[in-house]
Amino acid sequence: MRNLIDIKDLSIEEIDELIKVAKDIMQNPEKYSEKCKYKKLATLFFEPSTRTRLSFEAAMMELGGNVLGFSEASSSSTSKGESVSDTIKVVGGYCDIIAMRHPKEGAPLVASVHSDVPIINAGDGGHNHPTQTLTDLLTISCENGRLDNLTIGLCGDLKFGRTVHSLISAMSRYKNIKFVLISPDELKIPEYIKEEILDKNNIEYVETNQIEEHMSKLDILYMTRVQKERFFNEEDYLRLKDYYILNNDRLRTAKEKLTIMHPLPRVNEISTEVDSDPRACYFKQAKYGKYIRMALILKLLEIK
Ligand code: CP
Repeated sequence: MRNLIDIKDLSIEEIDELIKVAKDIMQNPEKYSEKCKYKKLATLFFEPSTRTRLSFEAAMMELGGNVLGFSEASSSSTSKGESVSDTIKVVGGYCDIIAMRHPKEGAPLVASVHSDVPIINAGDGGHNHPTQTLTDLLTISCENGRLDNLTIGLCGDLKFGRTVHSLISAMSRYKNIKFVLISPDELKIPEYIKEEILDKNNIEYVETNQIEEHMSKLDILYMTRVQKERFFNEEDYLRLKDYYILNNDRLRTAKEKLTIMHPLPRVNEISTEVDSDPRACYFKQAKYGKYIRMALILKLLEIK
């Protein structure tokens, strides 16, 4: 039985296969509409979500399966003191696969040890978000036509932004990838990501707090929200939350073929005037998330 806890649980070949299946689903949805008949997906969300939970549920429904679950810890028996491992042992008896989000880093890994059904990490604290990364890879593959030879700007909260950590881990495995890491000093990428992924794999990167200076080199600009829920004090959050606001003026020198991405939700970091720019891809990106999650469910349930 396979789980998806970290993007590194999947080989490059498996990721390429998931992308291929997701593209086929987009082209031929009817072929897949009964693949998960009589199967059930449980979405256990101990932390808020719009895209991840609903795209997982839509994915299972479009595969002909059913969904159950909860969208906040307070409506589950966690509020009475039940442990994650007990919850997982019980819910595994009601479903075939579980997608779980939890504020505690490592909670989905713990869940996978106690589970009789596949566990998908749908985000754990400031740590990882592998299905967002699969979504991002499908987006890049569809929009840029390749996953190699790219200069990727990652901008915003690189310290707490789990989507960024998983994306660096995944993209570092492709050829000739360069990163421009754009953040305020307080929100720089954690040292362990630099040491264990970037340095270890000889990946070229620069750290900067200047977005305009590097704009013209980027093939992809990945904006992120400052993660309010991970700050210890409101004052720091208020000081940093509007540090970068992408607007039309800041895009003046950008490539015509730039892909502007954001895992969403957006707060202020992309001005709404950018939404009508043909390079803005973030709403399309959210839609791609459903197709790659369909491919992932099929893979983990071992359905051809
Ligand atoms: N991108 C993402 O994880 O969005 P949600 O928090 O709405 O699921």
